[in-house]
Amino acid sequence: MIKEIRNNTLYFDGCDTVALAKQYGTPLYVFSETAMHERFQELKLCFTEKYENTRVAYAAKAFCTLAMCRFVADEGMCIDVVSGGELYTAMKAGFPAERIEFNGNNKLYEEIEMAVEYGIGRIIVDGLCELDLIEKVCAQKNKKINVLFRITPGVKSDSHDYIVTGKKDSKFGIPLDDDVIMPLIKKAIDSPYVNFLGFHFHVGSQLFSNSSYLQALDIVLALVKKVKETYGYEISELNVGGGFGIKYTTEERKPYSYFLDPMMERIGQFFKDEGMTRPAVVIEPGRSIVGEAGITLYTVGSIKDIRGVRKYVSVDGGMTDNIRPALYQAVYDGVIANKAEEAKEEVVTICGKCCESGDILIRDIAVPSPEAGDTFAIFSTGAYGYSMASNYNKNGIPAVVFVKEGKSALTVKRQTMDDLIRNEVIPDSMA
Ligand code: LLP
Repeated sequence: MIKEIRNNTLYFDGCDTVALAKQYGTPLYVFSETAMHERFQELKLCFTEKYENTRVAYAAKAFCTLAMCRFVADEGMCIDVVSGGELYTAMKAGFPAERIEFNGNNKLYEEIEMAVEYGIGRIIVDGLCELDLIEKVCAQKNKKINVLFRITPGVKSDSHDYIVTGKKDSKFGIPLDDDVIMPLIKKAIDSPYVNFLGFHFHVGSQLFSNSSYLQALDIVLALVKKVKETYGYEISELNVGGGFGIKYTTEERKPYSYFLDPMMERIGQFFKDEGMTRPAVVIEPGRSIVGEAGITLYTVGSIKDIRGVRKYVSVDGGMTDNIRPALYQAVYDGVIANKAEEAKEEVVTICGKCCESGDILIRDIAVPSPEAGDTFAIFSTGAYGYSMASNYNKNGIPAVVFVKEGKSALTVKRQTMDDLIRNEVIPDSMA
């Protein structure tokens, strides 16, 4: 059990969370290595070891630090980065370059230069002019790089509009109009600077139904067929993205096999029917690896009881360490970690300390009577919490601790006051 209660206290991967809060201070991001490992194990069993020529590229955008990149590398996985910063972090962590793939809808010239210099495994081409940029960089450096094309499958998926990416009206991917995509594919096939491997799509995030994946798959497979018929070219790689949903409150997470088995069956059948070799199949899960593996610990401060209306329980973090409730109306569950077994007799609202009314972390949660000094733990904050953290109100970004079977290790130091002004200068003209 990753989460358990001992002596009225919440334990996480064998660690007393109240003691962690004392030792490292709050707010504190805590990640369970055991929980992350379990997800990678599940993926090995139901995907990479079950189907040959398959790979998992962890989507670093969900949570990217040196320690996380090292963890992913040690698990033998690939990694998907979306910026020069994530790429740099992975490389600094010693991530093997050939296992890195680079996504993003507006890769900068310097970022492409970095990728080519490092010799990363793949660039996922996302826009019409990107191929030109890549060719230019490769020509200059006398190098060749593997590319896939991210297409916009034009399917809708059932998630928050901000995190739906596969629909036609999207900034991501290359539109599927024949006169747009076919000449671009031809150009990539003929280019001396790139190896054109195949296609990529990503339909959205926090998904619980496999239907949009299967719809997108049919669309991409039709394109694969057209490319074979038109140019006699067979793709060698297909990347079906990430997006597998997790449990925040009441949802039930679906096992990876629920998504992957029907996709692999359809892919296998298609290539068999067409008399082509099945390409490598790659997935890019982010949230489902780290989401439930992370919790955030806070210390309760001010409590405001507006009788008959609402009781606000303020904690020492908020939208700066978890923007998701304010941005996506995301809902979370949590517990007073030092009163984990006590009767939940009050319904309160957990709010942050930022000067913003929308800085609410959990609206209406039942808890035992809260007091200043309590440790409040919010669950399932591992994905897109730290990675979307900000310094709003000049709050420092919290520390990140990894825990495993009762042991803890600091992986990101808490930002200090000096960190907050490190890059700031008062120009001489103002002296
Ligand atoms: N691959 C691509 C190309 C993506 O765009 C994404 C997510 C992923 C993989 C990973 O998806 P995941 O398995 O994590 O669902 N900040 C938002 C989520 C944005 C996701 C963007 N793309 C949130 O906090 O919900």
